[in-house]
Amino acid sequence: MCSYCGCDSIEVIGRFMAEHVEIINATGDLRAGVHSGDSAAFGVARARVAALLWPHTEAEESGLFRIMAQDEVYASHIETLCGEHQTLAGLLAAITPGDRAAMARFEDALRDHIDKEDNGLFPAAAIALDGPQWVEVHQTTPHSHDGGEPHVHHHAGGHDHHGAHPATPATRG
Ligand SMILES: [Fe+2]
Ligand SMILES: [Fe+2]
Repeated sequence: MCSYCGCDSIEVIGRFMAEHVEIINATGDLRAGVHSGDSAAFGVARARVAALLWPHTEAEESGLFRIMAQDEVYASHIETLCGEHQTLAGLLAAITPGDRAAMARFEDALRDHIDKEDNGLFPAAAIALDGPQWVEVHQTTPHSHDGGEPHVHHHAGGHDHHGAHPATPATRG
């Protein structure tokens, strides 16, 4: 797990990892909805997954991914991960009530994708990015999906950020 290297103590990485847990939990509810064959429960559960997943992938792509992709070492891997975001959209849309195979295709792809981030890209980012790059990541990452009004984090104050800094509790609600 990523906690071995401590990269989850970086604010945006910790946020993304926490969102992965929320997304996986919502996916469990979706699986239950699919297996029940109840189209109303299924519809609510799929909307919940989508409401968590797309702000999350957008946040990854607009901040952390964009900046990591500036390094050619990571560019093609980032491209793969962005492609998987697209694939996941198609797989989620293809699920219908009672279609366990379609549900499994989505869930397997989602878990594989999250594993690549939690245990691959995020630890790599903790090593690869320097202080000013983390400031840029934080400044260009849209705010959390459930945080109400979007707002900009101001990092231009009198203190410096150097690489991994202690976690700041995510502002939510
Ligand atoms: Fe992702
Ligand atoms: Fe992610």
